[in-house]
Amino acid sequence: MVIEGGRPLRGEIPLQGAKNSVLPILAAAVLTGSRCRLRNCPQLRDVDIMLETLRYLGCRAEQQGNTVEVDTAAISRCDIPEEYMRQLRSSVIFLGALVSRCGQADVAYPGGCDLGARPVDYHVAILRQMGVQVEESGGRIVCRSPGRITGVPLSLLFPSVGATETAILAAVLAEGTTTVVHAAREPEIRDLCRFLRCCGARIRTGRDGSLEIEGVAALHGCTFSVMPDRIAAVTYLAAAAVTGGEVRLKGARPAHLTAVLPLLEQTGCRLLLTPDSITLTAPARLRAPGTVCTMPYPGIPTDAGPLLMAMASVADGTTVFVENIFENRFRCAAELCRLGARIRVENRVAVVQGVEQLYAAHVACTDLRGGAALLTAGLCAQGTTVLTGLRHLDRGYQVPEIYLQKLGACVRRRDV
Ligand code: EPZ
Repeated sequence: MVIEGGRPLRGEIPLQGAKNSVLPILAAAVLTGSRCRLRNCPQLRDVDIMLETLRYLGCRAEQQGNTVEVDTAAISRCDIPEEYMRQLRSSVIFLGALVSRCGQADVAYPGGCDLGARPVDYHVAILRQMGVQVEESGGRIVCRSPGRITGVPLSLLFPSVGATETAILAAVLAEGTTTVVHAAREPEIRDLCRFLRCCGARIRTGRDGSLEIEGVAALHGCTFSVMPDRIAAVTYLAAAAVTGGEVRLKGARPAHLTAVLPLLEQTGCRLLLTPDSITLTAPARLRAPGTVCTMPYPGIPTDAGPLLMAMASVADGTTVFVENIFENRFRCAAELCRLGARIRVENRVAVVQGVEQLYAAHVACTDLRGGAALLTAGLCAQGTTVLTGLRHLDRGYQVPEIYLQKLGACVRRRDV
């Protein structure tokens, strides 16, 4: 990606559908044994891999524009080879769906962004508590459930997003009721529950985020519209902020960003909110927001950390980032420093001393959100930044260069 920095972004763009919502929904479609149509599905590499995996399993799965059609009636196998599993983390969510639908599952360990250790022990423990026999050997997780899975009370050690999704998928067709205390409360979890309810599942969410899932005998297909992507929203808002621009995001839901929006205001950005749009007007110079501590939802999302770091890099003052979810979230910091940012990282803490101007350089995406942070920084760096490693970016952003061009950025993808 070749980025000529320094142009204020202006205008309006629609927000893509949420990657982290559609990925577990595609795995959940396995449970329906019928046809599901998903609207507002982003066109992403991660979605392609989920669709390829569904086809490998014998299902029909096609995407046309932003609509996906999946028919899981003819599922013919319950193993997933390493080449599919390694490409993304969400592949592990097939585990609960396959063992529930087929009585067995045999998958390799999942891949995904390298943010430090990303074990699957919570997923395995949940399945075991629900009566599933799980064996881990030779890099594979093999599950067997001779009869129907049993609904049980579950209490998560940590509100893991993926583990909560595994619990939900294993529980919707289980015998009896499953309760999940300390479940993750991310909006994408709510979206997965909404999808499953549309398919006939019985799921109640408590005010404290706990879940009560009453197993049903069968699900049916449905047509469902995927929620907008709150992290893509933060990405385009950060891009508007660092370039001193004014951008309206159509479809963005302020209700999903209650921890991030006040932080943007602290940097001096003005926000105009409606239930489904966010308009950001940036100040001449951003102010450092002070401290940014990431937390499970409704806290500041870990995925927003690198984007806020790009903003802090050019803000007036010092910002301290404390990462509480992943052990290696700040991999992009060294690349941001190539653009002139002043960042010191000590384990899970990063101290960013804002500079007045970043300067163009050759930089490489380290992971998905780190790559988005570098793209954001490149948009305000003086000169021509070249960003490589776009495979990371393409996992989570639908043609970002096209949306940025619509906002007046000078960004293009160079054929290699
Ligand atoms: C989801 O990952 C998202 N991915 C991530 O988004 C996001 O960063 C993360 O949730 C946190 O919000 C998808 O939804 C596809 P976790 P997930 O289970 O489910 C530990 C992006 O850029 N843990 O909530 O993998 C784990 O190591 C991505 O879009 C265990 O120890 O996150 C981490 O420290 C990247 N054992 C913490 O829990 C387990 O079995 C939270 O992980 C599972 C998790």
